[in-house]
Amino acid sequence: MERGIESSFGRYLNYVRISVTDRCNFRCRYCMPSRGVPTLSHEEIMSYEDILFLAKTLSSMGVKRLRFTGGEPFVRKDFVPFLERLKSELPDLAVAVTTNGSLVKPWANRLGNLGLDGISVSLDSLKPDRFRNITRLGDLGSVIEGIEALVDSSNAVKLNTVMVKGFNDDELPDLIDFAREKGVLLRLIEFMPLDSEVWLENAFVSVDDMIDGLPDGELWIPERPSDSVTSGPSVYYRNRTTGQRLGLIAAVSHHFCDRCNRLRITSDGEVRPCLFDVRGRSVMSALRDRCSEALVETIAVAALDKPECWTKVARGESHMSRIGG
Ligand code: GTP
Ligand code: 5AD
Ligand code: SF4
Repeated sequence: MERGIESSFGRYLNYVRISVTDRCNFRCRYCMPSRGVPTLSHEEIMSYEDILFLAKTLSSMGVKRLRFTGGEPFVRKDFVPFLERLKSELPDLAVAVTTNGSLVKPWANRLGNLGLDGISVSLDSLKPDRFRNITRLGDLGSVIEGIEALVDSSNAVKLNTVMVKGFNDDELPDLIDFAREKGVLLRLIEFMPLDSEVWLENAFVSVDDMIDGLPDGELWIPERPSDSVTSGPSVYYRNRTTGQRLGLIAAVSHHFCDRCNRLRITSDGEVRPCLFDVRGRSVMSALRDRCSEALVETIAVAALDKPECWTKVARGESHMSRIGG
């Protein structure tokens, strides 16, 4: 239990990403096709009571960290009151959130008071027209305001940028400056081929190319990898002059499958052992029956199902918005 849920190939899972909704107010090009994706009904998704029960069960299985994702988690009503309740009932659990930042401003103070362990905000461009183009529906101003409000109330904010060749790779210097001015960590993410409808092979930028493209390249030096169990897929560089840190997520080119500590659960209660594998096991009936035994059993079996490496699993029709990144 100390190390987490036993998985295949010698891995232990102590970090679970739970999607609270498949819905999103954006339609990012690298995530969804333009028509959007079919959405689940309210009856099909886990209630907050269900998620609370799930969180307690996961904690009893050795899980140390939960990250709530969407879709966009803040489109779901009462998301912040839910987080407050979760934190009060499970104070020792590290809790993080991934958001597109557009709806967070009114909640920023309450989020700050929660002492979250991470708030990741996606930011793919600093040019309003381009931001709209990438997100199809997003308004850059509301996201910047959201980031500023979060930075004022929390020191757990990180920015995530998916690098897409021809879309935003020329903005690397501006994004680095923006993150430094705001005092937040920027992470650059490789575009992942999750969904064949949105995947553009020639738009892929590898982490190695991102490093080559860093402004004042010689000033950036790699940090020694952290051995923290929650350190995730990011490797870090530091600027010798400014001290700024930069994260690089080589989700594709140097995948971290051999040390992956993650399990994902979709909003309709499917346990997905791998981001790239659409096969999952539903915990919905166990959850609704409040049957701890069946819940533990299903999660344990799903954890053992984790493929050795994502390149070896068949690529199915899957949408990132369903899984939450
Ligand atoms: P922490 O380690 O808790 O800070 O989480 P994180 O950095 O994974 O969280 P975040 O939601 O900010 O994730 C950043 C990006 O990393 C995601 O959007 C994905 O693009 C990528 N990522 C996260 N988990 C995985 C994974 O299991 N496999 C791969 N290939 N990429 C992942
Ligand atoms: N490749 C890489 N990252 C992606 N995200 C969504 N789709 C992709 C993709 N195809 C990221 C978003 C956000 C997180 C939820 O997932 O930028 O940071
Ligand atoms: Fe929504 Fe996030 Fe997908 Fe963009 S990447 S459409 S913000 S779920």
